[in-house]
Amino acid sequence: MTNYKTILQDPVFDLIAQTAQELDQKTFVVGGFVRDVLLKRPSKDIDIVTLGKGIDFARLVAQKLGDNVGVTEYKNFGTALIKYGDYQIEFVGARKESYRRNSRNPIVEEGSLKDDQDRRDFTINSMAFSLNSADFGSLIDPHGGILSIEYKEIKTILDPGKTYSDDPLRMMRAIRFASQLNFTIESDSYQAISKNASRIEIVSKERIIDELNKIILTKTPSRGLNMLHETGILGIIFPEMVALSGVEVINGKAHKDNFLHTLQVLDNISENTDDLWLRWSAILHDIAKPPTKRFDHKTGWTFHGHEDLGAKMVPEIFRKLKLPLDQKMKYVQKMVRLHLRPIALVKETVTDSAIRRLLFEGGDDVDDLMILCQADITTQNKDKQKRYADNFKKVKKKLKEVEEKDHLKSWQPPVTGQMIMEAFNLEPCKEVGLIKNTIREAILEGEITNNHEEAFKLMISEGRKLGLNPVDEALK
Ligand code: CTP
Repeated sequence: MTNYKTILQDPVFDLIAQTAQELDQKTFVVGGFVRDVLLKRPSKDIDIVTLGKGIDFARLVAQKLGDNVGVTEYKNFGTALIKYGDYQIEFVGARKESYRRNSRNPIVEEGSLKDDQDRRDFTINSMAFSLNSADFGSLIDPHGGILSIEYKEIKTILDPGKTYSDDPLRMMRAIRFASQLNFTIESDSYQAISKNASRIEIVSKERIIDELNKIILTKTPSRGLNMLHETGILGIIFPEMVALSGVEVINGKAHKDNFLHTLQVLDNISENTDDLWLRWSAILHDIAKPPTKRFDHKTGWTFHGHEDLGAKMVPEIFRKLKLPLDQKMKYVQKMVRLHLRPIALVKETVTDSAIRRLLFEGGDDVDDLMILCQADITTQNKDKQKRYADNFKKVKKKLKEVEEKDHLKSWQPPVTGQMIMEAFNLEPCKEVGLIKNTIREAILEGEITNNHEEAFKLMISEGRKLGLNPVDEALK
């Protein structure tokens, strides 16, 4: 039998083994850590199962590790956590579990290692390494986890219907592992997910979004999202995305399937960024296409204003999915609102003023906007591809040149509202806003340079046009 001693070289495993011997308690590393090291994926979360009290075991390990190592105890669950260097080590007594129909919370009793392995979700997650002196490093794999790794297959230990009905989060975990590891889901299991999809409703939104985000962060997220869609889970957890799917034909004119297009954009962007929020921007960039879709007998299908309506839909979608409602949401909103802007430039001739406007509105996020724009080009037409790619380079070059000259990314008005009020001896009023707008427009159009002197001069002349008199001080 293969021995995996070499994988368990870190001294912390010896120390746990010593503790096991002292307490005469059989002890094992189980679950995700075993799976990951066998797949050669780095892993810092270690789960230890001991045949006895997990918390007492953890206390003794912490003592051995030194004074400043603390134990966080979760008495209700009988588990304890030690943070040691980069490692998070969780200790638990071996358990047996059974589930009730309307809850994910199982009834728990003491059990053997086998009981503990039996209650786990997938074969790849049920393997253990022994930490006992007689067979330190040997693999205990009663459910064929190693074979599943070899076949690249996600397979449940028990009957899949029971596994998913007991704990419906496992349906998303199956799809998530298949996406992360590039495995397939065994076919009975896949069918059981489709059958039990509606049970996802008993899972908390926080757990769901955690899994969804992990799927979005995989190398080719379309794989996982397609599985979520096909099994019916996506329609329950994120119906706005499913509404993008399908093609309508009127008078022989079809529009593209916006679900497939969105997945393509997401895969494209994932080649250039691991940022979750930029990936979310790709998912949501066309989200308002279904509610803005119209058929015009002259021009065909249109989706006028989908970028603005899409930006308006973002907060509600974030709220429902329990995504953060902070700057990250604002960032995604901005990306959705502006996503057509660079594309318009790429398709047409590029003027300096259009570039200035893009820098002004995009600010520090303009580079991310360009990444989204590039990902959004999914045409199969080779001529168009070449034309867009050439123009794209031009836009990027121009953005750089204009930014170096005009510094519009972090634009601050060269004449503030306060300065305008002082110059004309005004209280806050609409004229202040009008003058500010005129100055901003003149800078963006290139009529004046982005500096205080020119802006001040324009302020005086604009004020006069509005019938305002500058104070003497302002004219010096
Ligand atoms: N587990 C399970 N059913 C769940 C969640 C977890 O059976 N719904 C089991 C699996 O054996 C898993 C172990 O508990 O390996 C630890 O779970 P967790 O730390 O959540 O996941 P990992 O499998 O370690 O994967 P990751 O760290 O990537 O989430």
